[in-house]
Amino acid sequence: SKGNHRHFMEKEIHEQPEVISHTLANYLDFSKGMIRAGAAPVDFSKVDRIAASACGTAYYAGLVGKYWFEHIARLPVDIDVASEFRYREMPLSKNSLALFVSQSGETADTLASLRYCKQQGLSIGTIVNVKESTMARESNTVFPTLAGPEVGVASTKAFTCQLSVLASLAVAAGKMRGTITDEEERRLVRELSEIPRYATQALKLEAQIEGISRELSQVKHVLYLGRGTSYPLALEGALKLKEISYIHAEGYAAGELKHGPIALIDESMPVIVIAPHDRWFEKTISNMQEAAARGGKIILITDEKGAAASTLKTWHTIVLPEMPEVITPIVYTLPIQMLAYHTAVFMGTDVDQPRNLAKSVTVE
Ligand code: F6R
Repeated sequence: SKGNHRHFMEKEIHEQPEVISHTLANYLDFSKGMIRAGAAPVDFSKVDRIAASACGTAYYAGLVGKYWFEHIARLPVDIDVASEFRYREMPLSKNSLALFVSQSGETADTLASLRYCKQQGLSIGTIVNVKESTMARESNTVFPTLAGPEVGVASTKAFTCQLSVLASLAVAAGKMRGTITDEEERRLVRELSEIPRYATQALKLEAQIEGISRELSQVKHVLYLGRGTSYPLALEGALKLKEISYIHAEGYAAGELKHGPIALIDESMPVIVIAPHDRWFEKTISNMQEAAARGGKIILITDEKGAAASTLKTWHTIVLPEMPEVITPIVYTLPIQMLAYHTAVFMGTDVDQPRNLAKSVTVE
């Protein structure tokens, strides 16, 4: 049931601190500050590449995972949407791990990609929410997300739990591959353990975000920008807004702005800039200034340090607490979800059952 929430989506957004905490506890031993023994039953020291694929929001989770695996474990990740992957006949080496991400475990294109990799003799790992699903059954290794049933068609808690698993696996891989020290492992585990606390703080921004959403519900187009791990979040933000509010939205890597989309910017274009004060911050902020100089109405999502460092007068600034870099993609997802949710509520759409969409896409 929805409890005292108006929609399942709202309920599922608010469940995130708890379900992320459950999911992390499956992979991390908080008291020891270590990856749980046996949590990642894959010998990552023998894997030389990850071939990943998924659809929609699950694909964006995988895209964040690519940044983590490559940075933390120095393990290259090829990732593609499953509808392309399955027909691409990509040459796969035997030492590749095939990795799939799916809430339902039934998505037709993702399942077909899994079967293709299996046929090629690869070991199959799947991050999946529905334990009894076809993908779970057909995988060598199942990495569960413990999000609980997700009813809203727009994925919310499944996405942040997928990210929690991916971050944990990247740390496990880094440990096995010797790219992080024991001390770094302890630090990363401690940082990941703080996600639920930061997620709870992020939820407290809801009243402000609802106010911004009222204004956003008046516009026709929205652009989302981000760099590094915030780039997949820009894609996810745009997907979430368009699928439930029907407002046209696009997500771009901030550095791509001047290669085309900047032509769209005028006084009627809100530009949502996702920019924690991390190693990409300065670059993203300079793209934000380019957008503002063309009249774009900037909504900056940043932290206290980022808000202080940016002198630009924005339309709105959403300020999160400062937090470790590795967890920003998970925590910054919450304001992005709330923005889409409240905008859709103001538009009066059917938030949990958006038109033309199904929860589980079992046909290609
Ligand atoms: C968007 C959304 C979809 C799904 C996609 C994959 O909010 O929910 O993009 O992420 O259809 O579904 P699963 O994860 O079940 O494979």
